[in-house]
Amino acid sequence: MAIERVAVIGAGVMGAGIAAQIANAGLEVLLLDLVPEDAENRSIVAESALAKMLKEDPAPFMSKGAARRIQAGNIEDDLARLDACDWIIEAVIERLEVKQDLYTKIEKHRKPGSLVSSNTSTLPLARLMDGQPEGLRRDFLITHFFNPPRYMRLLEIVSGPDTRDEATQELMDFADRRLGKGVVVCKDTPGFVANRIGTFWIQAAVTEAIDRGLSVEEADAVMSKYLGFPKTGVFGLMDLVGIDLMPHVDRSLAENLPSDDPYHALRRDLPVVARMIQEGFTGRKGKGGFYRINRGDGGKVK
Ligand code: NAI
Repeated sequence: MAIERVAVIGAGVMGAGIAAQIANAGLEVLLLDLVPEDAENRSIVAESALAKMLKEDPAPFMSKGAARRIQAGNIEDDLARLDACDWIIEAVIERLEVKQDLYTKIEKHRKPGSLVSSNTSTLPLARLMDGQPEGLRRDFLITHFFNPPRYMRLLEIVSGPDTRDEATQELMDFADRRLGKGVVVCKDTPGFVANRIGTFWIQAAVTEAIDRGLSVEEADAVMSKYLGFPKTGVFGLMDLVGIDLMPHVDRSLAENLPSDDPYHALRRDLPVVARMIQEGFTGRKGKGGFYRINRGDGGKVK
């Protein structure tokens, strides 16, 4: 089956970015999110997310032409429209039970043979598909995009023991030819490849900055200027990714890695992160992140 129409469920940092990249490539996209309580416009979440994709600062994630190819909707009124889609991408919050519940709903509406994939950062495919019907397991993969999808070339793909070979091949070809991705096929291990490594240096950078009294700027300068990491550094990266994602990623790795994995020894309670999330400082998508909260605060991570 050729991929012509795509649905993305979850219009957050990643879902909106993925929808934008696929629309930029010339495809029709349906973008769905929740209905906020008492909302007059029931698709306001997906609509607002799309508006952000057109912002020029620092560079737009989507062209104006692409914006016309995306329809915004919500999962209460529009799930029936999934039957017109060839590929359904789940990009909702990193919580196993929320994703599993959504797959049950998707399965009721998708057309036979359509592909379904999750953008999970860390949850193993085996757990996502636990208890799901065989039909879905045959069409299901993980397609892990990186942030921001328009500018990050890497795409990790994971298939399960029941995934059809043609499904994997089709997504690999599509990602390569239409999205310009460099595809890495990963085993179904917690965090796959990039996050398995990335979480180590994020944990290490935060704890070192706290223990040594470094400012976020100093810590990021060490990482980027001297160690050659991207210019955002670690704290800038967390602001971009979304600080509220960190506890989910950490919990998922802790639950899914073998008990002798060195990650367990590195874990530490980070009250600064919990406090920031509670106060809405979730990064660029919230009231600001490490860079903003530390301004006027001596710049220290504490
Ligand atoms: P986010 O918090 O920015 O967005 C999640 C969206 O899902 C929200 O708009 C929320 O309203 C919506 N949502 C929650 N439950 C829903 C449901 N049942 N149906 C429809 N929509 C629902 O999260 P983000 O950062 O976009 O992450 C999404 C997924 O992508 C997660 O699995 C995360 O681990 C993964 N990911 C995140 C990356 C990042 O840099 N933020 C990078 C790569 C993967």
